[in-house]
Amino acid sequence: MPSMKLASFLLLKLLLLSLGLSMAPPFLAGDEHQFSYSGFSNTNLTLDGAASITPNGLLMLTNGTSRSMGRAFYPDPLRFRNLSDGAVQSFSASFVFAMVSIYKDLSSNGIAMFIAPSKNLSAAMRMQYLGLLSNQNDGNQTNHIFAVELDTFQNWELQDMNDNHVGIDVNSLRSIQSHDAGFYHDKNGTFQSLSLDSQEVMQVWVDYHGEKMQIDATMAPLGMDKPTRPIVSANYNLSSVLTDVAYIGFSSAEGKITKHYVLGWSFGMNSPAPAINLSMLPKLPPGPRTKGGRRRLQVLEIILPLATAALILSVAAVVSLLVRRHLRYAEVRDDWEVEYGPHRFSYKDLFRATEGFDNKNLLGTGGFGRVYRGELSRSKLMIAVKRVSHHSRQGMKEFIAEIVSIGRLQNPNLVHLLGYCRRRGELLLVYEYMPKGSLDKYLYGEVDNSTLSWDQRIWIIRGIASALIYLHEEWEKVVVHRDIKASNVLLDDELNARLGDFGLARLYDHGVEQETTRVVGTIGYIAPELARTGKGTPLTDVFAFGVFILELTCGQRPIMQSTQDEQVMLVDWALEHVQQGSLDDAIDIRLKGQYNVSEAHLALKLGLLCSHPFACARPSMRQVIQYLDGHIEPPELPAHQSFQALALMQNEGFDSYIMSYRSSTSVGTISSISGGR
Ligand SMILES: Nc1ncnc2c1ncn2[C@@H]1O[C@H](COP(=O)(O)OP(=O)(O)O)[C@@H](O)[C@H]1O
Ligand SMILES: *[C@@H]1O[C@H](CO)[C@@H](O)[C@H](O)[C@H]1NC(C)=O
Ligand SMILES: *[C@@H]1O[C@H](CO)[C@@H](O)[C@H](O)[C@H]1NC(C)=O
Ligand SMILES: *[C@@H]1O[C@H](CO)[C@@H](O)[C@H](O)[C@H]1NC(C)=O
Ligand SMILES: *[C@@H]1O[C@H](CO)[C@@H](O)[C@H](O)[C@H]1NC(C)=O
Ligand SMILES: *[C@@H]1O[C@H](CO)[C@@H](O)[C@H](O)[C@H]1NC(C)=O
Ligand SMILES: *[C@@H]1O[C@H](CO)[C@@H](O)[C@H](O)[C@H]1NC(C)=O
Ligand SMILES: *[C@@H]1O[C@H](CO)[C@@H](O)[C@H](O)[C@H]1NC(C)=O
Ligand SMILES: *[C@@H]1O[C@H](CO)[C@@H](O)[C@H](O)[C@H]1NC(C)=O
Repeated sequence: MPSMKLASFLLLKLLLLSLGLSMAPPFLAGDEHQFSYSGFSNTNLTLDGAASITPNGLLMLTNGTSRSMGRAFYPDPLRFRNLSDGAVQSFSASFVFAMVSIYKDLSSNGIAMFIAPSKNLSAAMRMQYLGLLSNQNDGNQTNHIFAVELDTFQNWELQDMNDNHVGIDVNSLRSIQSHDAGFYHDKNGTFQSLSLDSQEVMQVWVDYHGEKMQIDATMAPLGMDKPTRPIVSANYNLSSVLTDVAYIGFSSAEGKITKHYVLGWSFGMNSPAPAINLSMLPKLPPGPRTKGGRRRLQVLEIILPLATAALILSVAAVVSLLVRRHLRYAEVRDDWEVEYGPHRFSYKDLFRATEGFDNKNLLGTGGFGRVYRGELSRSKLMIAVKRVSHHSRQGMKEFIAEIVSIGRLQNPNLVHLLGYCRRRGELLLVYEYMPKGSLDKYLYGEVDNSTLSWDQRIWIIRGIASALIYLHEEWEKVVVHRDIKASNVLLDDELNARLGDFGLARLYDHGVEQETTRVVGTIGYIAPELARTGKGTPLTDVFAFGVFILELTCGQRPIMQSTQDEQVMLVDWALEHVQQGSLDDAIDIRLKGQYNVSEAHLALKLGLLCSHPFACARPSMRQVIQYLDGHIEPPELPAHQSFQALALMQNEGFDSYIMSYRSSTSVGTISSISGGR
């Protein structure tokens, strides 16, 4: 009987469907489904990450903690496809949002309203990936994700057009279409731009016309009717993207410190999104814009009539105070810096943040200067300020341009450079603060009870490897770090490794060679060809990374102090153990034998392979990750003799002018930048 056959077929299909979705949806919202929220009190949104609902009903996607991300989903799955022809049907959504940054100079990443096949986006990354995708899956057809992004950060690797745009995204955060944020006036058709993170409340509409297969996004300031002309449209067949049943929600990520709010939200399947009742929207908390009034005038008014003498005295006092303040907080500012405004910190703010560069806030002293801990007063953001002395303005412009572009690098395994400040004879670099400090303290026992477990070590190695892939391959320019070493690896509060100290990094344009003056790096980590030519390349970074792997695996400094007061290179020592087959004797004794044997042996071999004296024998960072992941077997170690050559070359290359520096600090200068110190 054909009808029986059909019925059982449908039953089977239903069964398969519910098996495929491991958590079978209890309820599928149907063809005409609608919802509308004006505020989110007593709603059942599914929240994830930093997202929360404030007591007055705001949906707060990010909470102002640096690098946080958050997501919120409509609780029930929706059926996006027409049951009879399987095509994705028309839908409309609208939402009201605001981005409130606590410290106005620091931008954030953005918000996306998305449709995704599941509520489990645990693989997604923060920052530029908006908590929605990751560098592993961005662009992959199997994501089945559609989103409209409000992006306030220009990520080169995602080909963002600027730092204030609306984009239509399909399976990737490289938007298929994007446009400056704003709207077209209905009356005269002129475009009026809006600044997404201006702290103003704005409304966005997203419409998909199933028949035309057209996606439109429109925005306007709160209270304005929906403009007729969308700011961005794309033709895309969402039937080839969305799954039958999918979830709709918001995701958001902040790079620095911005709270992202959604105030209202509505959705209609096969119908316009219901109107959001604007008069019922919750209020935003008072922004940082409002500052207390000035009372100095009032005070003066009272003093004036009292006595002219008192007036003169107080004026003198005020003047001298101002002069002192002026001197104390004096900065150097050139005309060309105007465009870097957002990255420039005032000396006063940094002075206050570090309590006047008090010694109790001193984090450490590196090859280039002292590093202080601080807390920005308005935003409560913790920072690390590095003071570098310089005495020349020559090359400063180029250096600042570099700093600003480095500030755009965003990767979970890099310490972010937030900005800079210039003073006479001094440059201050402002970084994100890493509460756990640098890795060398853990390796060499300055922190009590701090032995890192093997799993932590391998996690750190992977983290740094992925930071290097990003620098070498994934950004628009090849960035050579030039100073990879344990003391430049900082740990965040989750013990993730973060590569820091871009003071030395130079941008090394694809194909464009840069003239170099002096060797930059740290003894024990400098590749032989770098010592000879002074030219840093991705492969000289790989060399240093190899030494770094050995350091973590063996728990020894790159230049070991042997008993006879003789210096032994860690590379040679490890190689000897590998060749004698006594690999386990090379592994850090502090691990007390608690390690994954095959991983540790792999790390030893990989460390040696990366720190091979001949650049051409070293793998690329991408290959290194493949070896670490076990996808590919690393090649056998090359012959012994070539390694002995290393010692020779090290000696030749170094003796002349490097050896006189202390081995714990970086060698060289940011010479072409600072003009010599
Ligand atoms: N962003 C940061 N957060 C916390 N501590 C830091 C940060 N940057 C540097 N430090 C601390 O300051 C010390 C000196 O840093 P740095 O100048 O980078 O050293 P070096 O020049 O030797 O690499 C480091 O050992 C580290 O403990
Ligand atoms: C939220 O869920 C609870 C239990 O699942 C239900 O009782 C309640 O009515 C729901 N509230 C809304 C606003 O949907
Ligand atoms: C913000 O959310 C993150 C992640 O849930 C949490 O660790 C952090 O403490 C929160 N910060 C504040 C200020 O609530
Ligand atoms: C579903 O598709 C059928 C056939 O194309 C069409 O007749 C029907 O109107 C569609 N339903 C909706 C709700 O769009
Ligand atoms: C979410 O997906 C990840 C893999 O991406 C998986 O490891 C994890 O168990 C899933 N979590 C839930 C709650 O299903
Ligand atoms: C896309 O994702 C699938 C499943 O996660 C994976 O098997 C596939 O290799 C990915 N494709 C690409 C090109 O990364
Ligand atoms: C277009 O109209 C808007 C609103 O009426 C007005 O603010 C704007 O100045 C007009 N622009 C031009 C170029 O006339
Ligand atoms: C849209 O995509 C679906 C699924 O891939 C396909 O079946 C359909 O033919 C496409 N429509 C058009 C007009 O290309
Ligand atoms: C919005 O809510 C207010 C207060 O509940 C109500 O008086 C008003 O009628 C509502 N407006 C619309 C358009 O529903």
